[in-house]
Amino acid sequence: MTDWKRTHHCGKVSKDNIGQTIVLNGWVNRRRDLGQVIFVDLRDRSGLVQIVLDPEELGAEQFALAERLRSEYVISVRGTVQERPAGQVNEKLATGAVEVHVSKLSILSEAKTPPFQIHQAADVDEALRLKYRYLHLRSSELQHTIALRHQTTNAVRSYLNSQGFLEIETPLLIRSTPEGARDYIVPSRVHPGEFYALPQSPQLFKQLLMIAGFERYYQIARCFRDEDLRADRQPEFTQIDVEMSFVDREDVMESMEAMIVHVLSEVKGVKVETPIPRLSYQEAMDRYGSDKPDTRFGMELCDVTPHLGGSEFRVFADTVKTGGVVKGLNVKGGASFTRRQIDQLSEQAVSFGAKGLMWLALEENQVRSPIAKFLSEDELNAIQRELAGETGDLLLLVAGNYELVSEVLGRLRLALGKELNLIDENLYNLLWVIDWPLLVYDEENGRYVAAHHPFTAPLDEDIDLLESDPGKARAKAYDLVLNGVELGGGSIRITNRSLQERMFKALGFTMDQARAQFGYFLEAFEYGTPPHGGIAFGLDRLVMLLANSKSIRDVIAFPKTVSASDLMIEAPSSVSQEQLDELKISLKD
Ligand code: AMO
Repeated sequence: MTDWKRTHHCGKVSKDNIGQTIVLNGWVNRRRDLGQVIFVDLRDRSGLVQIVLDPEELGAEQFALAERLRSEYVISVRGTVQERPAGQVNEKLATGAVEVHVSKLSILSEAKTPPFQIHQAADVDEALRLKYRYLHLRSSELQHTIALRHQTTNAVRSYLNSQGFLEIETPLLIRSTPEGARDYIVPSRVHPGEFYALPQSPQLFKQLLMIAGFERYYQIARCFRDEDLRADRQPEFTQIDVEMSFVDREDVMESMEAMIVHVLSEVKGVKVETPIPRLSYQEAMDRYGSDKPDTRFGMELCDVTPHLGGSEFRVFADTVKTGGVVKGLNVKGGASFTRRQIDQLSEQAVSFGAKGLMWLALEENQVRSPIAKFLSEDELNAIQRELAGETGDLLLLVAGNYELVSEVLGRLRLALGKELNLIDENLYNLLWVIDWPLLVYDEENGRYVAAHHPFTAPLDEDIDLLESDPGKARAKAYDLVLNGVELGGGSIRITNRSLQERMFKALGFTMDQARAQFGYFLEAFEYGTPPHGGIAFGLDRLVMLLANSKSIRDVIAFPKTVSASDLMIEAPSSVSQEQLDELKISLKD
């Protein structure tokens, strides 16, 4: 009964097996007929090997079976491993020096013609690939990234286990909170009219685990956020969630640095130099116009505002008068850009929110620029000096308020870095961004919101700013950035009730609202709370970077589209009237 069971894996057959009789199981990747003989690339998880189905070796009855083979049939073959004839070695294939001459073939499962060829899946419309995700998952690319994901979680677990962390699960059906992104809510049948929420992160539970005395916790935690999706965001995603007691910021950063170094080394064989560089949030914004700078290339932002206060050029003078800034970038060698290329840059800058883009092309003996005639010699010199402009360079300037100028130049810098191939794709540049603002003003709602979350502690010296100047208070927060992607973020937490209440007040909560929402948490602080802090990394994002994938969807076995749908199972879907009745839910039209 078991004569079809494999003795070897396809991708592992090698010259060492020459002369052996082996049994392989797998899928028909491709079939080619050469005269009388049929060649099949047989595929299993480990890779491909060529099998040869020759009527002279198989006999008529078995060969008739072989003639039925089509792509994606699941088969078992018994055969002998032979060296490929000279001239037929396939250098590109790990098993390309050998082939298996089949003596016995069994068809374990037939297959309909698939909607796309597995090895050509990358060229197929994404909607079709997602509908038949189980077929796309057969491709070597996705087999590789999903295995890489496993190796990553494995490396994370082995590091954290070795450091005395306990893996503890926290609930998925929790209470809805108004902070952060929108919650996914789940109706309760037992309590009609009441709802659970799916966690956006295990934040409060992991803090309660510290209060409960576990000291070192982690969880590979599924999180749910109903927010606008992008290439690096999914509605359900996974965090490597960590919390530690009796620690300060340095301790958490040091531990997590060691974990990431371990993972990069285990999974990619990449050695990262430590300590990982650090930038304050302010410096990151000043120099890169981004809170998650890609430091794989330079082209830093330069501030020329101090030189332009007395300018005759209205744009500069008005900007300085109204407290704005004028900052710029030096595009090395960019003076040779055509007018059309520069116009495209201007359009890009405007699409990022700038009123306009000013430019100076430093040509031999002259400055080509629509604004040069409005600037004094001193101003021109100062701009060139600050931006280290040399002949051949293109200097780009944007004026406006600090946030806008940072945003525009930050995005322009990234776009230029990519376009001009300034980024070394082999680098793994890690960076800590620290000293974040604690709160940011939300114009739309006319109140402060937490820059990270309401449980983040302010720097000791900034505590009193909570009442006097909330926007100036900095946080004991840290983000880890890898190649310009926010990989993770965390903080030292507030650990006493009165400070937590002051924080809620700064966020515009009344005490009644704070107690109604977080009463259990505030109360917990009063029963002995250790100093604690932690971090959460986006596992999907980490794997995406390790796999060099362009989209987070490539590293999740069953991902959702940008409109949060699963095209394979067709979720979300409507539910029956009976289910709604049971939940006492009626739908508006
Ligand atoms: P934060 O909200 O910064 O922190 O999330 C931590 C990390 O999770 C990843 N991430 C996402 N990945 C994919 N899709 C999403 N929609 C998505 N949203 C976030 C990012 C991010 O850096 N509880 C805190 C952590 C803490 O303070 O310990 C938290 O959730 O990589």
